[in-house]
Amino acid sequence: MSKKVLVTGSNRGLGLEFTRQWLGRGAEVFAACRHPEEAGALNQLAAANPDRLTVIPLDVNDAAQVAAMAERFGIGELQVLINNAGTLASGERMGQLDPDVMEGAFRTNVIGPVLVTQALAGALAAGGGWTINISSELGSISQRSGFFTPSYCATKAALNMWTRMLNFALAPQGAHCVAVHPGWVQTDMGGQDAPLDAATSVASMITLIENLGPDHAGGFFDHHGQRLPW
Ligand SMILES: NC(=O)c1ccc[n+]([C@@H]2O[C@H](COP(=O)([O-])OP(=O)(O)OC[C@H]3O[C@@H](n4cnc5c(N)ncnc54)[C@H](OP(=O)(O)O)[C@@H]3O)[C@@H](O)[C@H]2O)c1
Repeated sequence: MSKKVLVTGSNRGLGLEFTRQWLGRGAEVFAACRHPEEAGALNQLAAANPDRLTVIPLDVNDAAQVAAMAERFGIGELQVLINNAGTLASGERMGQLDPDVMEGAFRTNVIGPVLVTQALAGALAAGGGWTINISSELGSISQRSGFFTPSYCATKAALNMWTRMLNFALAPQGAHCVAVHPGWVQTDMGGQDAPLDAATSVASMITLIENLGPDHAGGFFDHHGQRLPW
């Protein structure tokens, strides 16, 4: 039986690459994105893999879409959830912090993935499912040494705490959760100066995901599987 994997933010960047590489490994992929009608590369993949790729409309901040998405899955049907969708607001300055920007970052990077995981908890349970929260080393409180992209840093730190909380919540049903830093990667968010391409980062993260065990549950790792400081 092929593994069933759901990826949020699957239309570009790391999410699109996760979709491509899970397909390459024989998985059945549910690729969630905000605007399927505009997701050209994703729709090409879907046309080439009609039996194994389903595109699902999902803004992680839309409660009705989250509920409709979760209704597709029965108990224990999903083995991997990749909470990949994320946003980075650049240009934040002390003295000009904008509550709307701060709240928007928190909704997409923290509340969205938590509520998606909650909605899919039954689908991930029983089958020993793993929730992978795509975090960032910028969410490591102990490693921050300057004031830049503060909302992004703060939301990834909060996502790390939620990773640990969700792991406690899911563990009694046999499911687990980890936070993973993909490296600095060439995407719209990472920019072209990043040292890693998406294919290398995702290949490395999938190797980690395939080798997750009890010692990883509730932890924070880089894409090589090295434990990161909180
Ligand atoms: N690239 C890096 O160097 C790097 C480093 C550390 C961590 N990360 C993390 O890796 C993840 C993927 O980032 P990326 O580099 O691939 O960024 P990206 O190229 O900017 O892609 C972001 C993805 O998130 C989606 N998204 C944003 N808000 C959403 C929402 N409300 N609902 C659903 N989807 C939403 C976007 O969809 P639209 O096209 O609809 O906007 C897009 O698919 C993020 O969580 C990011 O924080 C990236």
